[in-house]
Amino acid sequence: MDFNALIAWYRQYHRPLPWRETHDPYRIWLSEVILQQTRVVQGMEYYLRFTERYPTVSALAAADEDEVLKLWQGLGYYSRARNLHAAAREVVAEHGGNFPTDYASVRALRGVGDYTAAAIASFSTDAPYAVLDGNVYRVLSRLLDLDTPIDTTAGKRLFTQAADTLLQEYLSEPTHSGAGIYNQAVMELGAILCTPRSPQCEACPLGGHCLARRNGTVDQRPVKQGRTAQTPRYFHYLHLTDAAGRTAIYRRDGKDIWKGLYEFPLIESQTPDTTWETLPLPLPSEALLWRESVRMPKHVLSHRIIHATFHRAEVTDLSSLPLPSEWKIIPIETLGDYAVSRLTELYLNRQD
Ligand code: ADE
Repeated sequence: MDFNALIAWYRQYHRPLPWRETHDPYRIWLSEVILQQTRVVQGMEYYLRFTERYPTVSALAAADEDEVLKLWQGLGYYSRARNLHAAAREVVAEHGGNFPTDYASVRALRGVGDYTAAAIASFSTDAPYAVLDGNVYRVLSRLLDLDTPIDTTAGKRLFTQAADTLLQEYLSEPTHSGAGIYNQAVMELGAILCTPRSPQCEACPLGGHCLARRNGTVDQRPVKQGRTAQTPRYFHYLHLTDAAGRTAIYRRDGKDIWKGLYEFPLIESQTPDTTWETLPLPLPSEALLWRESVRMPKHVLSHRIIHATFHRAEVTDLSSLPLPSEWKIIPIETLGDYAVSRLTELYLNRQD
């Protein structure tokens, strides 16, 4: 393999990104957690926001969870934000606030998997761990023309081995430049040239070694077995307001999606045909003054499709009604202080 060409290509063409200018494992970790959720351009905004607000892992650990979730808002998949916060606290409790760089300690942190641990260890100290993310799967499947589906146990094992073997081969060259830049280069190749559609094979520094290119199978790599089924869910939200300008929200809890986020009181239905008339309302019907229902377009998450209806209703006086104890009655204008899901954000920002 022409590793020198790969590294030379990376040095010349890589996107200069702030988390590449540092060896600080805290910043590298932050960037990786954010980039698991979003693309580089949007991720940059969040990275700058987080590093400005929490310049050290101790500052993040000391923050209020609600504030961390608020800063995360828009990235989705909030368990990542909660894990981020919990991991920061682990670093303070177990490492005295010094973010670890050795693979085993990093891997043991909340929310850190094999990929993130390899990224942090190699980018911060050149530790010899190969990263394997979506970009790397694609690059390897083409370079070695591997047709084992990447979303299977066998595929994961095979690609892990392939990634390790290539890294070892690279590190055995006396002139190598370290595992960190190598990992960055393979990922960048996948992000810039070896893209899912219309890869630029002519410009590829490894083009001469690419078996899929030689075999004409580039467009068929990587192979995937298929998506997992998405289950539908039917959400009915009660967007209540009263004459005193108050509304009701609650904080999601338990094992479900959006844990820790706030939203309007929710009634979940098992069937698609529930309407306002058949909804089991947790408040006396005589308290209702008027109501309109807003059906949202279907909201697609990784394993679920949410069919949401927001029932906007004016009620007599929220503070004097017998309401569920977990509801929080707040002035409407303070709603923006609470972290909400993307779905609720879309509802609140809709133009109609
Ligand atoms: N995506 C995930 N990690 C990345 C990184 N370090 N640089 C650019 N894109 C990435």
